Amino acid sequence: MAKECKVLVTGGAGYIGSHVVLALQERGYSVVILDNLSYGHRDLVESVLRVPLIVGDMQDRSLLQQLFTDQAPGAVMHFAAFTYVGESVQDPAKYYRNNVIGSLNLLDAAYTAGVEHFVFSSTCATYGLPQTLPIPEEHSQVPINPYGAGKLMVERAMLDYAAAYGLETVIFRYFNAAGADPAGRLGEDHNPETHLIPLVLLSALGKLPGVKIFGEDYPTPDGTCIRDYIHVADLAAAHILGLEYLLGGGKSTAFNLGNGQGFSVRQVIDTAAQVSGRIIPTSPAPRRPGDPPILVGSSAKAQSVLGWVPQYPQLEQILEHAWAWHQKRHG
Ligand code: UFG
Repeated sequence: MAKECKVLVTGGAGYIGSHVVLALQERGYSVVILDNLSYGHRDLVESVLRVPLIVGDMQDRSLLQQLFTDQAPGAVMHFAAFTYVGESVQDPAKYYRNNVIGSLNLLDAAYTAGVEHFVFSSTCATYGLPQTLPIPEEHSQVPINPYGAGKLMVERAMLDYAAAYGLETVIFRYFNAAGADPAGRLGEDHNPETHLIPLVLLSALGKLPGVKIFGEDYPTPDGTCIRDYIHVADLAAAHILGLEYLLGGGKSTAFNLGNGQGFSVRQVIDTAAQVSGRIIPTSPAPRRPGDPPILVGSSAKAQSVLGWVPQYPQLEQILEHAWAWHQKRHG
């Protein structure tokens, strides 16, 4: 049965947004997507999601205003953003313009239209270098790149908007989103691709010659960086809980989303080789600037406040689903 609240999903043609649209549909919500298709996939919206897609940009304030008038969404889930950390260092203007100004335009259109519920896609990159592990939400936020700095600016604006205008907000800070829809309908498909797991699987498929390991001299057991990989379907489930927390009168707050367990680059590659049964060539490469040695988050707050329990915490399962998707999409 359709829920009464229509949800506007920005960036719904992208990796995480599209998985959340599926979860919203399965929960009975009606959805409209706003995406400028600079990175999103029209084919997946049309063939899998089959919801209205408005192609437009958050720089276009009159389009946003019209969208809220025409569609009258009861809630917004905001994923649209550029997400390449390295590029944000090379071209910060692109990131502040799109991720910060675009988000402010969206927030303005939302609160002016009387929207009271807003879910925001933030990142562990707002924390900067971890002072404690696993990282809790109250950890200091001192981002070390423009991508993280821009996301943090929007977090601050949202909390101020909540206090002043009643636009209540759930902020989700993801650790490393990974995996694919367990039913194989959607998955990760960036162009250009810079993320470890897709690059590993494209190498397993023979589409790339191999994987460069960015640094083998970190202070970790095998010398490679450790990350907290979280299944995209578990992220999607958390977004439904976050939305329903707001619809139930919950106040603005932030939640980490991770598994609380770290895996090294080397462990990811070895597990991907087992899951795929393929050889994955690797070569050493210098450290990538801006990479903290270890990022692992505590999601105890999401578990206790939202009742969120990840269904796919095993790295093997994350890689199995990603491998199935990559074979289907790129095989
Ligand atoms: N890595 C390699 N070789 C590659 C690609 C990545 O060794 O070819 C390593 C990286 O150095 C890092 C790990 O694999 O140690 C994971 O790298 P990803 O690029 O897959 O992910 P990041 O941890 O850099 O980025 C993720 C999100 C960002 C977010 C960031 C926060 O994708 O959106 O976490 O640190 F900002």
